[in-house]
Amino acid sequence: MPKTSEREIAVDQLTDAEAANELAVLAADIAEHDAHYHGNDAPVISDAAYDALRRRNAAIEARFPSLVRADTPSNRVGAAPSGNFGKVTHAVPMLSLGNAFNDQDVTDFIDRLRRFLGLDDNEPVAVSAEPKIDGLSISLRYEEGVLVQAATRGDGAEGEDVTRNVRMLGGIPNKLGTQSPPAVFEVRGEIYMGRADFAALNARLEAQDAKVFANPRNAAAGSLRQKDPAITASRPLKFFGYAWGEASEVPSDTQSGVVQTFADWGIPVNPLMSTHESVDTLLAAYRDIEQSRPTLDYDIDGVVYKVDRLDWQERLGFRSRAPRWAIAHKFPAEKATTILNDIEIQVGRTGALTPVAKLEPVTVGGVVVSNATLHNEDEISRKDIRIGDTVVIQRAGDVIPQIVEVITEKRPKSSKPYKFPDICPACGSHAVRDTDEKTGKQDVVRRCTGGLVCPAQAVQRLKHFVSRDAFDIEGLGAKQVAAFYEEGRIARPADIFTLEARDARSIKRLKDAEGWGATSVKNLFASIDARRTIELHRLIYGLGIRHVGVTTARLLAKTYSTWPVFREAVTAGYDRESDAWRDLVDIDGIGETAAAALVEFFAEVHNTSAIDDLVGELTVADYDAPEAADTPVSGKTVVFTGTLEKLSRSEAKAQAERLGAKVSGSVSKKTDYVIAGPGAGSKLKKAEELGLNVLTEDEWIAMVG
Ligand code: IVH
Repeated sequence: MPKTSEREIAVDQLTDAEAANELAVLAADIAEHDAHYHGNDAPVISDAAYDALRRRNAAIEARFPSLVRADTPSNRVGAAPSGNFGKVTHAVPMLSLGNAFNDQDVTDFIDRLRRFLGLDDNEPVAVSAEPKIDGLSISLRYEEGVLVQAATRGDGAEGEDVTRNVRMLGGIPNKLGTQSPPAVFEVRGEIYMGRADFAALNARLEAQDAKVFANPRNAAAGSLRQKDPAITASRPLKFFGYAWGEASEVPSDTQSGVVQTFADWGIPVNPLMSTHESVDTLLAAYRDIEQSRPTLDYDIDGVVYKVDRLDWQERLGFRSRAPRWAIAHKFPAEKATTILNDIEIQVGRTGALTPVAKLEPVTVGGVVVSNATLHNEDEISRKDIRIGDTVVIQRAGDVIPQIVEVITEKRPKSSKPYKFPDICPACGSHAVRDTDEKTGKQDVVRRCTGGLVCPAQAVQRLKHFVSRDAFDIEGLGAKQVAAFYEEGRIARPADIFTLEARDARSIKRLKDAEGWGATSVKNLFASIDARRTIELHRLIYGLGIRHVGVTTARLLAKTYSTWPVFREAVTAGYDRESDAWRDLVDIDGIGETAAAALVEFFAEVHNTSAIDDLVGELTVADYDAPEAADTPVSGKTVVFTGTLEKLSRSEAKAQAERLGAKVSGSVSKKTDYVIAGPGAGSKLKKAEELGLNVLTEDEWIAMVG
């Protein structure tokens, strides 16, 4: 088990000894999770939790470069399990199905297709019903009756080539059992593992001390995607054919007829398929299949209905990614009762704190569930969910299990209402809920305020920091920053400006890293240096404070002019009774939300220490306010409309603002100038009606120089 004691300490407060110790624990933990993940399709922690471990490791390495271990996980990128298989573009896309959740949805489906086809009331419509198999869909391409390619669904347009593995499966014929096969025929259907086979496989794996699969579906997926086809061959995978893709000829004019032909060709088809002409008998077939569900040797999650006549299927066609002629009638979500052992708080990339229920593991619909989503703080208090409670959970398909009910009678006497933390578990900063300025309502999400230091948010923050409107460092974009973070080269903005000095002393020189060379590194350091002198508004924007966008950052820079004045004002403004706070919210264009976000950001010691380290590396240029009297447009309100040909819209806007003008999006009596390019419409019309000054782009340029 990972040692959590150090993991609770913010990275910038770790001692050398603690950091060294934790790096060792992290290296071992991450290696173990890599083995789980790549070895047998059965990760034991969520992707988010895994990413958090890697981020924490990178953050510690960035602060303690001398402690980077020889076996650091940062140098190891786990071999992706996919990517070993070639890509196959499906000639006919592999679609998904729309869902029906109750009888009415089925009636609506039939009504809809009758209307679409313009059938009169006594025209019968034959519809087939068959189990929806919970496996993996696959496309088997036969040319002249010989299996030439097998491909997974992938994203529906492009899948993976698993031909070698599929050839090994006993249940799939390598040759169609017919004397006169079509030139090309793609059989589509589901690969699955039977429940008894699944249990036997897991018993075998367990005996070998290997990791077991969570459910038959995962076992089927893991077995099919083995690098060694011999292993796939040893796994008892089965197949049902139920549809087709590209076909040079179709052997019947009905769905059920084609499936019958599949059977004649030696392709396994599901025995529970039947055809009906009324909604009532269709629903009766659904209930029959639902009843036989526990006795079937494979997992199913619903019943699929398909219009039987192929000419009608053709006319009905597709809507977005699903056919109009078929629908999946899902079985209701399965429920189970278990104990809520703990509530874990995960920190997302934007600092959002998300509660996750840690459950006593319980089997729901054949899957062992140990986590459930709790959505947010309000949901927990609304349902009064407490640690130690007995809860009813439900799971439907692939969605994350949810808590539907708390059985309060079973609540332990000692239980207390859950108190949502107001401290970020990833970095120890305060976590707060914003208030919506207009509605006065609290945001449902509580967020970590440790933007610059929180390892859970660091990469996003760094990407923002180097973005175009912020530091805009040539050669250091989102991709490079993310890689540098992963490699432990930078964790906080200040690290960008100490990179060169640290690199000179490092054993992992950047010039030796993949994709870099001496020249490109030299250029990078030069462009970083070029940004050591930075305009105030870029610095403010670059900090990535919530609700402080480019415009707000400019307004702030304009108002406070220099970094020390700004820094002092937002620090003092934390006191809502202060003049500093009143001055801040009085700035035209700055609302309470942005003001609150600002003062709270600067009230976090974690943030201010990161900022002060950064500013220590910089020369912050004072805001260069144009003298009001100097420009012909200062204090004027201007509106740009239509297409500008010489300036981009944002450039024109920035220029106007630099010259002291206010740029507005709508035309009114207060507008001083409307700059209209080709294609200008209603705004130009309104300007003319109001008799305003309308300029062409050239006239505007002539005026402002
Ligand atoms: S028909 C064009 N029939 O369900 C429609 N699909 O949710 C082709 N599935 O990707 C699909 N059993 O993997 C069809 N009897 C069945 C099915 C079935 C399982 C899967 C299939 C598809 C998914 C759509």
